[in-house]
Amino acid sequence: MVNFSPSARTLALSAVLWSHLPFLEARQLAERNAAGLQVEVSVAEGLLNHSTDGRVDVLFAPARVDPLDDIDVISSPDYIYGENLLGLVSGSKVTLSGGSNFTTRTGVYGWPVVEVQDLPAGNYSVQAFMNIYETLTRSDGSVVSVRFPCGDGAPPIDGVGSLKSEVSTLEVLGGQQTLGLIFSDTEAYLDFNGTEIGSCSQGNYEDTEYLKYVKIRSNALSDFWGRDISRYPKIILVTFRHETPFYDDSYGVNTANLGPYGEAINEELIPYLDKTFNTIAKPFARVQEGGSTGGWISAASLIFRPDLFGVTFSSYPDSLDFHRHQDIPLYDSTNAYVRLNGSMIPSIRDFLNDTQVVLATVAQENHWELSQGTSSRSFLQWDIWNAVFGVQGYNSYPLEPWNKVTGEIYPAAVDYWKSFDLSNYIASNWDGPKDLGRVLENRIFLYVGTHDDYFLNEGVLQFQQRVSAKGGADWVNVTVLEGQPHGGNYQRLPTWEFLELALQWVKDHAPDGKTPLAADVTRVESRGNEWSEVIARGGRAAAVARQASPVLRSRFGNTVAEVGRWDPGVVLEAE
Ligand SMILES: *[C@@H]1O[C@H](CO)[C@@H](O)[C@H](O)[C@H]1NC(C)=O
Ligand SMILES: *[C@@H]1O[C@H](CO)[C@@H](O)[C@H](O)[C@H]1NC(C)=O
Ligand SMILES: *[C@@H]1O[C@H](CO)[C@@H](O)[C@H](O)[C@H]1NC(C)=O
Ligand SMILES: *[C@@H]1O[C@H](CO)[C@@H](O)[C@H](O)[C@H]1NC(C)=O
Ligand SMILES: *[C@@H]1O[C@H](CO)[C@@H](O)[C@H](O)[C@H]1NC(C)=O
Ligand SMILES: *[C@@H]1O[C@H](CO)[C@@H](O)[C@H](O)[C@H]1NC(C)=O
Ligand SMILES: *[C@@H]1O[C@H](CO)[C@@H](O)[C@H](O)[C@H]1NC(C)=O
Repeated sequence: MVNFSPSARTLALSAVLWSHLPFLEARQLAERNAAGLQVEVSVAEGLLNHSTDGRVDVLFAPARVDPLDDIDVISSPDYIYGENLLGLVSGSKVTLSGGSNFTTRTGVYGWPVVEVQDLPAGNYSVQAFMNIYETLTRSDGSVVSVRFPCGDGAPPIDGVGSLKSEVSTLEVLGGQQTLGLIFSDTEAYLDFNGTEIGSCSQGNYEDTEYLKYVKIRSNALSDFWGRDISRYPKIILVTFRHETPFYDDSYGVNTANLGPYGEAINEELIPYLDKTFNTIAKPFARVQEGGSTGGWISAASLIFRPDLFGVTFSSYPDSLDFHRHQDIPLYDSTNAYVRLNGSMIPSIRDFLNDTQVVLATVAQENHWELSQGTSSRSFLQWDIWNAVFGVQGYNSYPLEPWNKVTGEIYPAAVDYWKSFDLSNYIASNWDGPKDLGRVLENRIFLYVGTHDDYFLNEGVLQFQQRVSAKGGADWVNVTVLEGQPHGGNYQRLPTWEFLELALQWVKDHAPDGKTPLAADVTRVESRGNEWSEVIARGGRAAAVARQASPVLRSRFGNTVAEVGRWDPGVVLEAE
């Protein structure tokens, strides 16, 4: 146990422990940088009147192509170079040079080419952006620097308010050269300007005849983040909108890195809707459904809150069971990118005449994400999973389950994911006070295709296998459709047919229906993912408590520190 926070002393100590580059190598690197390409970015006068932190990304697209046209991992023609920067003001000048796999938090990291000077010679269309981070103190004392999105879909690079340069056509000669770019503008606010309801958080939309938007200030989230946070649904079908500083969606649960989104939705927004609209405020009348991320959310919402919701129809959900996190056997592998037989683990696939074609590997996607944000702040898929499923690391950011550069899995970090491994959670609470074996029986309907683009069929099968081993084949209703990819409604049903299926479930489980939902399967005692437990287990205090003190020793008359036990992968460099 240690009782110190990351003070100057800890940081100074860690700099010694984590320094990867011997002096000579560092000097050679500096010489090499001076000899190669570098990019100087300056901030125009009047643009930034106060000291600003954030992540700069410089995009190099082929000449005449808009660099933002395509930044997708599969198809982007761009080279992306990112670096975290602190304290920019008008007139600041920063130089991006070099690039390394070992100092991704403090130096340049490029994708698909790590180092700036390795950018091939040629003519490029170049644009720089800076995603601006706010530094906040959460209610548990953690200090984090993140971007709060603004109803803009949380894009990694050009979110509203980001600084940007003009697109310049530049020639890269292939030798020593410095390119200059100027931040001269900020990314405009979309259809809103911050003067509307509350703030720009979640955006501000106009009602139509059939669509009503409700936005409330969440006390649970605002207290946690020390900042006003709002959320949105749509009526008659309710869609929840819950953007976060790590992704455009919170996964609808309470998590140590994002905060009490489960509370905000279930205890603030739903009661508000029930009060405001003519709803049937009973579990049998609340049907969860969704696909992909929504597939996971709808399943988790029922599984954690069988006292609030009646049933879930979940389609091609994100991994329900981490024996397969997409295609990664997370509990049984040592590396998330490479299999034991040496082949790269795929992440996105297509089928051509039934033959699988890999479009991107897990390594490619993670490296692409890393160019756009360190410490899981890219707003992209693998990073939000780290934020939702993982606890907070000692650096106050998500405790990452593997080394983002090399893929080396940290089993101690993965162990914390088990409370969000839904079959593990159900099996662990099968009997006992939560009694989930009885409570959730016949209430989970899953659908996935055998050709799911992201291998999500594998996690569904793992889930099915584990809960069926306890409850029998009919405990959960799983449909696997042969040859179907990712997408579509539940069971690929047309929308109205699906709505009728859901409505029938409600009718059947109403108090006067064929099989009423019994009071003893909607008890408060069956709740899980309680905020107080989540933050106690995964927040700041827990991160501090699990570190072991460094040991000070005297050696040759000097006092030296030996490392204690630290969170895996957590590098205590200045962010
Ligand atoms: C910064 O200050 C200048 C000069 O006072 C002003 O013209 C400009 O609008 C300010 N910019 C911002 C972003 O506040
Ligand atoms: C970074 O690691 C990749 C392999 O993951 C390697 O191909 C590349 O050369 C490395 N680059 C640097 C600059 O270390
Ligand atoms: C850039 O374009 C010009 C004009 O087409 C061409 O002459 C030059 O070779 C190109 N530069 C590189 C490095 O390819
Ligand atoms: C902000 O937007 C609202 C409508 O969305 C508009 O009425 C108002 O004039 C705008 N304010 C500014 C300063 O543009
Ligand atoms: C490695 O294992 C995977 C999964 O079992 C298999 O698809 C792949 O063909 C194997 N690759 C090699 C090189 O053996
Ligand atoms: C797929 O099958 C069709 C019909 O047999 C054929 O025309 C097409 O060329 C095949 N495509 C590929 C990529 O093999
Ligand atoms: C599973 O649910 C579907 C409705 O989505 C239903 O058609 C099917 O009969 C159910 N299967 C079983 C075994 O109950």
